Amino acid sequence: MEFPMPDDLFSVSDQVTLVSGGSRGIGRAIAEGFAQRGARVIVTGRDAETLKRTAEEISTADHAVRPIVCDVADPEAIERLVKSAMDAFGRVDTLINVAGVNRRMPAEDVREEDYDFIVDVNVKGAFRLSQAVGKHMLERGRGNQINIVSLNNYAPLKHVLPYAMSKAAMGQMTRGLALEWGPRGIRVNAVAPGFVLTDMTNKLWARPDMRDWVLPNTPLERLGMPEDMVGATLFLASEASAFMTGQVLFVDGGFSAGLAWPIEG
Ligand code: NAI
Repeated sequence: MEFPMPDDLFSVSDQVTLVSGGSRGIGRAIAEGFAQRGARVIVTGRDAETLKRTAEEISTADHAVRPIVCDVADPEAIERLVKSAMDAFGRVDTLINVAGVNRRMPAEDVREEDYDFIVDVNVKGAFRLSQAVGKHMLERGRGNQINIVSLNNYAPLKHVLPYAMSKAAMGQMTRGLALEWGPRGIRVNAVAPGFVLTDMTNKLWARPDMRDWVLPNTPLERLGMPEDMVGATLFLASEASAFMTGQVLFVDGGFSAGLAWPIEG
């Protein structure tokens, strides 16, 4: 099914949209949401087969979604990706940095290898991709970048410290790039998903104790689905948000609105 945007204000039609980490989960849902609304979508990920399958599944009758393999932790792969995207489309209108990884453990157990793995993808990878795509956007004097951060940007969760640190860095990157590139026609914003059911988190939310904790603390009383991230991302990519940059939008069912407690009124 395709959903043309009846209101041009929210349109992403014909936008060339590059989604890193688009093979599954949140990235796939966003890529599909953009494709359904007429964007020309490039999805990237590490595994060629998975990526190709995803691209086929989310392609529309009008536009084939293009898969390009890229490990964002590999600087040369980023250069190749950006070159392929430019060769194919001549521009990138919207970059969406979704690729991200996590490893859960107490802070004292974090090994150098765990730290590097997380930071290389979530911080360095996102920065390199923003920079490589940003250079072309600066030449054109227009463009839009959206970074997927986390509830950890509101308050860190226990036992995911390098991840929380990496997402905080991404939040600061969002504001810093907005500051530098705003005067040159590029907007940079972020979406902070709440607790979303994906391969990254399914096991965690299968635990009854985790559900007993999260649901009463979420005003909308449910976990998020990858599709819940589409609306905010479309909004940030469209003219509807033309006067917004450097912002983090929390899409979390209200989790960050406040603290629920058991006492009755
Ligand atoms: P996922 O594990 O299902 O998907 C992660 C995506 O990133 C996959 O497409 C994977 O191939 C890609 N990826 C990982 N390392 C990569 C690399 N080195 N190079 C290129 N691609 C790479 O996870 P999910 O849940 O869809 O997460 C997507 C983003 O949303 C991540 O940045 C994550 O931190 C963030 N997020 C997720 C939340 C959740 O509750 N699921 C909550 C808040 C943020």
